Amino acid sequence: MTKTKTATSAILIAAALSMAHMPLYANKNGVEIEHLGVNNTLVRVTGEGKYLLLPIQESNDEATINVIIDGKLQKSINARLAKSKVDYTVPLYIEDFKGKNIVLNIVTSQGRSSVREAKEDACWPIFEVTDSFNTANREKYRPAYHHTPLWGWMNDPNGMVYKDGKWHLCYQWNPYGSKWQNLSWGQSTSEDLVHWEHQELPALEPDGLGMIFSGSSAIDKTGSAGFGKDAIVTMFTSAAASQIQSLASSTDGGRTYDVYPGNPVLTLESEARDPNMFWDEKAGQWVLTLAHALDHEMLIFTSPDMKEWTLQSRFGQGLGAQDGVWECPDLFEIPIAGTDEKKWVLLCNINPGGPFGGSATQYFVGDFDGKVFTPDTDKDGNVKTKWLDYGKDHYATVSFSDAPDNRRTVIGWMSNWQYAAEVPTMQFRSANTLPREIGLFRAADGELYASSAPSPELDAIRGKLAVNAGKTSIGKKGKQFQLPAANDGICEIIAEFNALKSDSVTLTLTNTAGEKVAMTYNNLDRTMSFDRRHSGITDFSENFPAVTVSPTFENDGKVSLRIFIDRSSIEMFGNNGQFVMTNLVFPNKPYSTLTVSANGGNARLNSLKIYSLNVN
Ligand code: FRU
Repeated sequence: MTKTKTATSAILIAAALSMAHMPLYANKNGVEIEHLGVNNTLVRVTGEGKYLLLPIQESNDEATINVIIDGKLQKSINARLAKSKVDYTVPLYIEDFKGKNIVLNIVTSQGRSSVREAKEDACWPIFEVTDSFNTANREKYRPAYHHTPLWGWMNDPNGMVYKDGKWHLCYQWNPYGSKWQNLSWGQSTSEDLVHWEHQELPALEPDGLGMIFSGSSAIDKTGSAGFGKDAIVTMFTSAAASQIQSLASSTDGGRTYDVYPGNPVLTLESEARDPNMFWDEKAGQWVLTLAHALDHEMLIFTSPDMKEWTLQSRFGQGLGAQDGVWECPDLFEIPIAGTDEKKWVLLCNINPGGPFGGSATQYFVGDFDGKVFTPDTDKDGNVKTKWLDYGKDHYATVSFSDAPDNRRTVIGWMSNWQYAAEVPTMQFRSANTLPREIGLFRAADGELYASSAPSPELDAIRGKLAVNAGKTSIGKKGKQFQLPAANDGICEIIAEFNALKSDSVTLTLTNTAGEKVAMTYNNLDRTMSFDRRHSGITDFSENFPAVTVSPTFENDGKVSLRIFIDRSSIEMFGNNGQFVMTNLVFPNKPYSTLTVSANGGNARLNSLKIYSLNVN
């Protein structure tokens, strides 16, 4: 070998070696990126900051991101890292790892022909270490006065409990994208059920036993579970290959939660989830209702300490709506309006199989002896199927534990599994329903039904009285009223009318884009309908355009309505919550006009009030 040749190969080898150690891509945002193969990339954090922003493209497949701190796997998350364009970014919280080596080992899943193709992914230049993440309320359809996550996907409300003046609302949350994945518990608190303070970190995150599915919280007044007197105890489903039940607790008033090291505390051989428990004072033990999802039933267990559970009974096979899986139960006792009597209500959320397709909340009224729930039957011995809300967007509704003044306050997830992941929002997906107070009333058919009326706290956000109309006769042509324009037309409408001898009374909301929502009281069959087929953007799912219909449980044609309009939802409460319809809408322009009309004869509008709403 000649001298020159040796020198040249030495240089070549040195260059190759140094290339092996050189990052193939440094994006100047505090990260270095090394592509290791067509589907494997390392992202090293070189800058300092609170967050590492992950660039997301919703239509892309999920990548697995292994977060490695000083060589140890801290967590694995699944995120739709952007390939051809970035829809938005989500923050990965890294502040706790300051001064440590932070490396993401990313495994993508799309077929690629070469590393060169992988390098062209849209995400790499956008990864960024930063101290701030913008969570301003900037999307058109982000509600003004409904609870939403600051970013990311949300489904069921979880772990709802009232403690020391605060309502704690946890929720199924994906902090790494606006579609269902990485299920954690997000957490917000409120003193008035309307203004929510968001905690930026999850209360519970996936662990070795799986994702954190739905569950409940309650105050352990006797300290029976061993976490201390008045600790918040929490039970949730750990979901991986199987669904098993786990415990957590909080001794700092719900700021942080400790996962119980002895988890799981309850296992079965079949799919069971969404544990909902309460302390039975009389029996001195915990009562747990668990959804035996695929068997369409609820299982009832008891325990002295939340760790040893005894199956006491099963409820529901063959009863009520059975078309979908049974999920998210809640069991509680409430008074019957106008009497000294009380009855038990068992909420059974089901999906699909709701009255208008997809998910919905059914319930049973009956008795509970501490072990067995026995449903009321009608005069023919049948158990009637009953729905808590007759809209399409009311699911996973459960109540707050330990609410003051014996209140039974519930909140639901305001969406439907049929299209929740497709609705036209981006940075966040899904809101909760307004808080509601559950009661029981006896209807004309002799049956007991649950009412859900807007929680009294909502009165406090009423602003200017924009319309105040007295008694007036209503005919076919109708009367028009302007809705307040502030804050994209969010408002509360309170209408009282008597249908008299008309066939129907319709309240129509319209906007300048020619879109409308028609809410019609049908005087012939005493039902109320809600037509959102022309309400705005409806084409993201064939299941979205719909007319929903509710019985009104009255038989005199007199109806009072409270209608809450937010930027992408309408909740209608009839006759003090005796019938309710919750429906999402995505108008291109805010609704600006309300027209009240009657068909087949005149009706009488007794009063109409429209309030703007103060939300700050
Ligand atoms: C209901 C549900 C629950 C489950 C959770 C998972 O919407 O399917 O049964 O715990 O969502 O996110």
